[in-house]
Amino acid sequence: MQKLLLIVLLAALLSGCGPAAAPACSVEEQAACPANALTYDTGIGTLLSERCSPCHAAGGVEAQRLLTDYAHVSGLRMSIASQLVTCSMPPAGAPQLSASERQQVLDWLTCGAKK
Ligand code: HEC
Repeated sequence: MQKLLLIVLLAALLSGCGPAAAPACSVEEQAACPANALTYDTGIGTLLSERCSPCHAAGGVEAQRLLTDYAHVSGLRMSIASQLVTCSMPPAGAPQLSASERQQVLDWLTCGAKK
């Protein structure tokens, strides 16, 4: 009986702070386009290729959704927005966007996903 209790406690402990724990997802809703927003060419492209293209590129685990160039990224922008506001992408276990990086991408989307 004591052994069972120990296992339950251990499981609770591990699930609380293991890599499977959900990342803190704080996203500010932005109704208007901020004046200092980046464009794809001034930073968003680089950010997405660093954080997303290891998987979303030819040879990656999600090669059918390429995020390697402006045409692909802008075509998927609604879907990208919904992944980012829920902090679902990058998936748990992969290097995450910082809160400010996530905000930069969302601002870019709010501003019309400019090239
Ligand atoms: C570690 C690999 C990996 C990384 C890094 C990654 N993704 Fe994904 N992504 C996946 C996989 C696998 C799927 C398909 C399965 C799923 O939806 O979970 C997916 C699905 C998606 C989808 C479609 C979701 C849907 O169901 O509509 C979008 C949009 C997306 N990713 C955007 C991104 C963005 C943006 C980034 C970077 C900020 C990113 N992903 C980083 C592996 C990754």
